Amino acid sequence: MLNRRQVLAAGVLTAGFASTPLLRATSRAAAPAEPFSVRMPVPPVLRPAARLPGCAIYHLTMREAPVEILPGRHTTVRTFDGSFPGPTIRARRGETVIVRQTNKLDVPAAVHLHGGHVEPQHDGHPMDVIAPGDSRTYVYPNRQRAAALWYHDHAHHLEAENVYRGLAGLYLLTDPEEERLGLPRGEYELPLLLRGANLAEDGTLIYDATDVQGPDHGTTLVNGRPTPYLPVAARRYRFRIANVSSGHAYVLKLRDGSEMIQIGTDGGLLPEPVRTGAVSVWSAERADVVIDFSRYPVGSRVYLDNTALFGGETRDVLRFDVVREARDDSRVPERLVPLEDLGPAATTRTFALSFDLATGRYLINGAVFDPDRVDARPRLGVPEIWEITNSDTRIPIPHTFHTHLEQFRILDRNGVAPPAAERGRKDTLTVHPGETVRIKVRFSTYTGRYVFHCHMLEHSAHAMMGQLQIEP
Ligand code: C2O
Ligand code: CU
Repeated sequence: MLNRRQVLAAGVLTAGFASTPLLRATSRAAAPAEPFSVRMPVPPVLRPAARLPGCAIYHLTMREAPVEILPGRHTTVRTFDGSFPGPTIRARRGETVIVRQTNKLDVPAAVHLHGGHVEPQHDGHPMDVIAPGDSRTYVYPNRQRAAALWYHDHAHHLEAENVYRGLAGLYLLTDPEEERLGLPRGEYELPLLLRGANLAEDGTLIYDATDVQGPDHGTTLVNGRPTPYLPVAARRYRFRIANVSSGHAYVLKLRDGSEMIQIGTDGGLLPEPVRTGAVSVWSAERADVVIDFSRYPVGSRVYLDNTALFGGETRDVLRFDVVREARDDSRVPERLVPLEDLGPAATTRTFALSFDLATGRYLINGAVFDPDRVDARPRLGVPEIWEITNSDTRIPIPHTFHTHLEQFRILDRNGVAPPAAERGRKDTLTVHPGETVRIKVRFSTYTGRYVFHCHMLEHSAHAMMGQLQIEP
């Protein structure tokens, strides 16, 4: 773990420049709303514009909209359909989802389905943008396992600000295998989209890429509202947690120390449930977590804290108010979904993540993103081992690593097997300073061009990204 001073140093570098006194003065965050004074909302589930056999068609418009984040204040944000965060898209395995996106913002946008297994022309490549005023149709075949995916802007250099200003939403893909398990569902299955926001007194959302603590320090938002409360029944709930922040980490604990059950990660359900006191989600990671409130008497208040207080995050995240008894016929089976074996690897590649102090640039294998360069040419169906090293030890900066198209497995971290909660299908991982993580990945189904990158969005916006050409 980093200490606070190291992380502040990393924060300076998050932005790539030192901050100026002028910028510091304008970016002072407001005293956040009184914690636990607003009720946690649930993002609306998007209704299809049309349904055809085996296919649902959705329309979304990206536009600015005023929303209430702080009580009684208006904040202008960038939204999908006026919703902050975006509406949840619910999909079923084997049923195609078609999303027509119209860009009514005054900046370009590209919509990427994070964790999605899709054709390259539907992947929201950073150079493949929707200009202001234009529309584009994305096709998601959903030929992959049940998982919590999320959709967000990916326009090159703009993604960090666009996502910070609101262009992110959840995409819950289900399948019969998951439905058969008897996990909590309906009103007992809730998304928790976590992020930070630097809000001025009057509600203005401040985006300051030079902020030493990262642009999204300040108030923790859950589903778009500051440190809310949620009335719950004394029974099991399933929370679909997604870290949609620019660069913040959340290490979540119940303040009373009781256990949570992590049942899934980025790419879907784990092979077996992991009983744990702490659930970690770094930038862009997801965690599927069951909390059993039946151990608390009605009237209890149960606090969910963030214990990864690096630079400016708040401890308070959410308060659960146990308000009633309820019947519970949900279960958490001891076996969830088996992990398929990817087969023996035939190729090894190395990816070195680093920040270059001299130039202020974020590099992968010594280079910034060049859309005309291909950095790796994996062959379709051939398993590979990737060794990802974070060499930023002098000024310790954590990085996250995300590849498009495929779910990988984490083999080891500095030679040691990963914690149980990381032994599932992953599309994003943290690489701590000085660490080498080995993953196994096998690209399947689609050939063509995709990107991989650091998912600390200030870093990817500064071109910490590379390109894959999947070859037949
Ligand atoms: Cu969540 Cu390339 O992105
Ligand atoms: Cu990074």
